[in-house]
Amino acid sequence: MFITKKNINGNDYYYLQKSERQGDKVISKSVAYLGKDKEKAEKKAEQIINQQNNPSEKTPIKKSTPQPKQISIEDLAAFCKRKGFVYPSGEIYGGLGGFWDFGHLGVELKNNIKQQWWKYHTQQRSDIVGIDGAIITNPKVWEASGHVSSFIDIAVQCKKCSYKTKIDKHELETAKCDKCQGEYENKGEFNPMFTTQVGPIKEDSITSYLRPETAQLIFADFKLVQENARLQLPFGIAQIGKAFRNELSPREFLFRMREFEQMEIEYFIEPKQKCPFIEETKTVDILIYDEKMQKNNKKPELINLHQAWKKGIIKTDWHAYWIGQEYEWFTSLGANPNNFRARQHTSEEKSHYAIDTWDLEYKFPMGWKELQGFANRGNFDLTQHQEHSKQNMEIIHEDKKILPNVVCEPSLGVERAFLVFMFDAYHQDPQRNNTILKLNPKLSPIKAAVFPIIKQPEYEEIAEEIVNDLKKEWNIIYDRSGSIGRRYARNDEIGTIMCITIDDKSPKDKTATIRDRDTTEQVRVKIKDLREIMRKVINEGESVLDFGKRVNTRKK
Ligand code: GAP
Repeated sequence: MFITKKNINGNDYYYLQKSERQGDKVISKSVAYLGKDKEKAEKKAEQIINQQNNPSEKTPIKKSTPQPKQISIEDLAAFCKRKGFVYPSGEIYGGLGGFWDFGHLGVELKNNIKQQWWKYHTQQRSDIVGIDGAIITNPKVWEASGHVSSFIDIAVQCKKCSYKTKIDKHELETAKCDKCQGEYENKGEFNPMFTTQVGPIKEDSITSYLRPETAQLIFADFKLVQENARLQLPFGIAQIGKAFRNELSPREFLFRMREFEQMEIEYFIEPKQKCPFIEETKTVDILIYDEKMQKNNKKPELINLHQAWKKGIIKTDWHAYWIGQEYEWFTSLGANPNNFRARQHTSEEKSHYAIDTWDLEYKFPMGWKELQGFANRGNFDLTQHQEHSKQNMEIIHEDKKILPNVVCEPSLGVERAFLVFMFDAYHQDPQRNNTILKLNPKLSPIKAAVFPIIKQPEYEEIAEEIVNDLKKEWNIIYDRSGSIGRRYARNDEIGTIMCITIDDKSPKDKTATIRDRDTTEQVRVKIKDLREIMRKVINEGESVLDFGKRVNTRKK
């Protein structure tokens, strides 16, 4: 068997091939798709070849990790507040429902999530570029998009316990109170867009809206971006930014907010264009819950994504591809694969613009809930903007003028991703009697903590030098107060990847010990190698413990 590289639309894809004799000819057959990264492809190929040679050692495509007990959303909110991740906004005045502030660690985690998303979806691809649109724009954008007339929820109040919530129109007859199963009273329709006056003099001002999604700026700017970035179909435009919805009952901490951030892609294709990346779905097994299963009261099924598309459960190759991409993004950053499923919207619940929608759902402590949406918007938005603005939105594709389709719009809330990474990282360790936040190194707010073992100038000077050096690249903590055990514990709780200690050997042999957060094991390394070690651990996912001689210590 051998690896081949194919170049499709400027991207390299690796495949495992084998040669077979058929009569007097030798033909080459594809065995497996290996991904886009050469090193990972080589590792995967080795695994497949080993499995074929030793079938008894077959491993599942994605290993399931043991499921730690999830804490409640209220406990997570309390933890986030206690440790400096998230606070109720304006809490000294009693806060304001649906608005949250991110503290000194929360802002780092949130920025890291956005940075990783941006890298994966724009910098590492050649078919997607980004924009950063305005929060307030010409209100005609929202008339054209249908948000003024059709972005409507129904407010209801429980007749028994007075609980207020919003429901979709189609649920009016059947919905029962989430809290007590009582009957709801219809309190009328409402549009969750926040309005604002643009212009300081009342008579001259116009009413506009705080954007309820980032997507529309991508459509409104579509022609400019396509021309300036010289994009050819298929291509995507991505955006990360604030969105605002005047939710009737914001709740469940960061799950339903009034001010939040979205990370969205509009992926444009020629309506009949096939997905050249579909092979990538072959390595993804995921729980699938389509409309039929839901209506027949069946359970979701674990299905290979490629098979789900082949069997017509997921209608388009693009939908299957994007669900797989996003699932891979989450799991490659440490999210637990067992907590994800793909659920199709029933025909009654689809948004006004959608032909078919799937959600990537996550098993939150309050149940399976939408994490990310994947709507097939067809050419609804470009058609609407073309009609309302009287600007031609067509582009030239293979010598013809066409209006592209958005066959899939992966749309994710930053704060919902924040919750996922926090839930899956949060571990209570009975041996250490402490919380360990096992965040992926790329996401950890603080990459290392540096300690002098005792407060003495000879140790402190070395520690400070290391901090100053490492700080050029990462967030580093210098901590010299409290016992070493206490210092380890408070760093474990906030997800610091490693603790670097300057001890009595350091001044003599220019070494330090590094303690690994997840195992508490320690190794001794040369101080001059610290930066390179950290690069490998953070960027390439290598283990700290592979870089030095183990140090015999009490487990802490
Ligand atoms: N452009 C499509 C769109 O906005 P959506 O399903 O309304 O679709 C997309 O929102 C994503 O934005 C959701 O999957 C969720 O992650 C996030 N989101 C939506 N409303 C939210 C809210 N009130 N609070 C936090 N996140 C929200």
